[in-house]
Amino acid sequence: MADQSGGGIDTVMHEERLFPPPPEFAAQARIKSMEEYESLWRKAAADLPKFWGDMARDELHWFEPFDETLRWNEPVAEWFVGGKTNACYNCVDKHVVEGHGDRTAIIWEGEPGDERTLTYAELLSEVRKCANALKSLGIRAGDVVSLYMPMTPELAIAMLACARVGAIHSVIFAGFSAEAIAERNNDAGAKLVITADGGWRRGKVLPLKETVDKALAKSSTVEHCIVLKRAGDVVAMQEDRDHWWHDVVDGASDQCPAEPLDSETPLFILYTSGSTGKPKGIKHTTAGYSLYAKKTFQWVFDHRDDDVYWCTADCGWITGHSYVVYGPLAAGAKVLMYEGAPNHPAEDRFWDIVERHKVTVFYTAPTAIRAFIKWGDEWVEKHDLSSLRLLGTVGEGINPEAWMWYHKVIGNERCPIVDTWWQTETGGIMMSPLPGAIATKPGSCTKPLPGIVPAIVDSDGHEVPTDQGGWLTVTHPWPGMLRGIWGDMDRYQEVYWSQVPGKYLAGDNARCDVDGYYWIMGRIDDVLNVSGHRLSTIEIESALVSHPAVAEAAAVGRPHDLKGEAVAVFVTLKQAEPGDELRTELRQHVRNEIGALAQPDDIRFTGSLPKTRSGKIMRRLLKDIAAGREAVGDTTTLEDYSVLARLRSDDE
Ligand code: WTA
Repeated sequence: MADQSGGGIDTVMHEERLFPPPPEFAAQARIKSMEEYESLWRKAAADLPKFWGDMARDELHWFEPFDETLRWNEPVAEWFVGGKTNACYNCVDKHVVEGHGDRTAIIWEGEPGDERTLTYAELLSEVRKCANALKSLGIRAGDVVSLYMPMTPELAIAMLACARVGAIHSVIFAGFSAEAIAERNNDAGAKLVITADGGWRRGKVLPLKETVDKALAKSSTVEHCIVLKRAGDVVAMQEDRDHWWHDVVDGASDQCPAEPLDSETPLFILYTSGSTGKPKGIKHTTAGYSLYAKKTFQWVFDHRDDDVYWCTADCGWITGHSYVVYGPLAAGAKVLMYEGAPNHPAEDRFWDIVERHKVTVFYTAPTAIRAFIKWGDEWVEKHDLSSLRLLGTVGEGINPEAWMWYHKVIGNERCPIVDTWWQTETGGIMMSPLPGAIATKPGSCTKPLPGIVPAIVDSDGHEVPTDQGGWLTVTHPWPGMLRGIWGDMDRYQEVYWSQVPGKYLAGDNARCDVDGYYWIMGRIDDVLNVSGHRLSTIEIESALVSHPAVAEAAAVGRPHDLKGEAVAVFVTLKQAEPGDELRTELRQHVRNEIGALAQPDDIRFTGSLPKTRSGKIMRRLLKDIAAGREAVGDTTTLEDYSVLARLRSDDE
């Protein structure tokens, strides 16, 4: 771990503003007051298995009831043991069976302006056809299917179809490179890839099939590829391997029962960055995840039947899994899905969508909010946003000024804001205001949800005093927690369950103030947060070092107005000439190895990297240099400087 400062972090932020829930909002909310929240939280904490067990019986459909709520053999959790359910059934069939098949499930808008609406009954029919197509290509329970798709209804349909037959989906964000896809296919042993000819982004077509073709040349376990015709581009189809979606899905039977699956049947793998060069395949399972996504959705977004709910996340990330697909659909919500960029054809696209579809609940990322601020209020003011009643944020901390802008300009000072803290690993939201109950403070994710018991500890595992920073942990298992890292249970144990005995280590620093409000203070490991997305510095370094000109590389984050953090790298070369040409080449190289999101913003060439006597790269010094807090003119001074710095602080 790069920063062992648990317990010794100074607080620099003091936020005094407090925004109680508007009375008219609270009056109609699911949880209406602080007293109600506190009593629910206490009731849950007093008997967690009973709390979750009762809820699972009420909220999920069971083909066979479970006989044990939790079997906990740290770090292995089994929830709802002995029960049989199906995540797809809970999201789709259940509503149709209960007589709500005519309700709208998905309102979709493509970037070029095309629109589609699917009712729950229509969604069921599409999902059944897709499930039959999967079966016709030999996909069975336990097989892994990679999805590399644009944000179209078919992406949600494919996820649900996998869940229906017990196959495990691994969604790979459509911005990742061929190398990254191949790495994920190979790690998971994927048998099938579903993609599209292309997807629309800022008026252009992303050539998804072309990228998949390159990946498949290196993915030995993949037998078939289904291709959705989305952009209409001409693509190469390899006979016997590649199949058009419209051939294998549209023609399939729309009868296909949902498979009754053991509660702990793996539902999906989602790769995320950790503090090594190899992405972790975070594994989630059927019953616990389904319950957690559904219930947290209902609580945090205060779901009502007349809501039009829009989460702007892509299904390539956990937010898209839990709060575009599984949570809202399990709750029977009306979900808006949008394919493209927020500034196409102009900077008011989101507000245009909100106005036209009368969106009531809007959930986005702070990085997007910073972009809206930069683009100017006039784009917002052109639109009637009076349908909105609740706003949310996710992915990184929101700075109080951006929070205030969101509150005033988007929410017109009427809409509560839920700042939701959680992770790919947690499966769903862990801390967030309940909008009818908990007064908000800009920049704080406020309080833990019922059933979640956090603790902030120092590196010895002792709880730290109020207002002091430390490591954020969770003290008891919860249904939405990850069940492991795909193929590497040792790493699972080591990363999350070994540094603080008996507790889940989230990897974030946090503090809790006198009112019991939590403030997230950033990562404790070498994970960057670029535009709300996790990137490992070591992954970027490995990508750079795989270039023949590079001897050594160090990547650090530096503050960036829009992205939150930007990637700055320091590179030492073998024999090559430093210069702009090589800079461009290295940028492209990282794009090819990982994807555009990891492309470095700054590349500095240096004769050597500053290291401690024990050989560790002095990342804190590099961070200061990258941020401009330490002035370094050219490569020579960086070397001189590093000698000085070494004398000054020997070990970080
Ligand atoms: C950060 C995204 C502050 C945090 C759902 C966490 C946040 C990582 C917040 C997980 C928030 C997420 N306030 N920081 N509201 N939400 N983070 O796995 O560092 O992509 O550990 O999951 O994002 O990122 P991930």
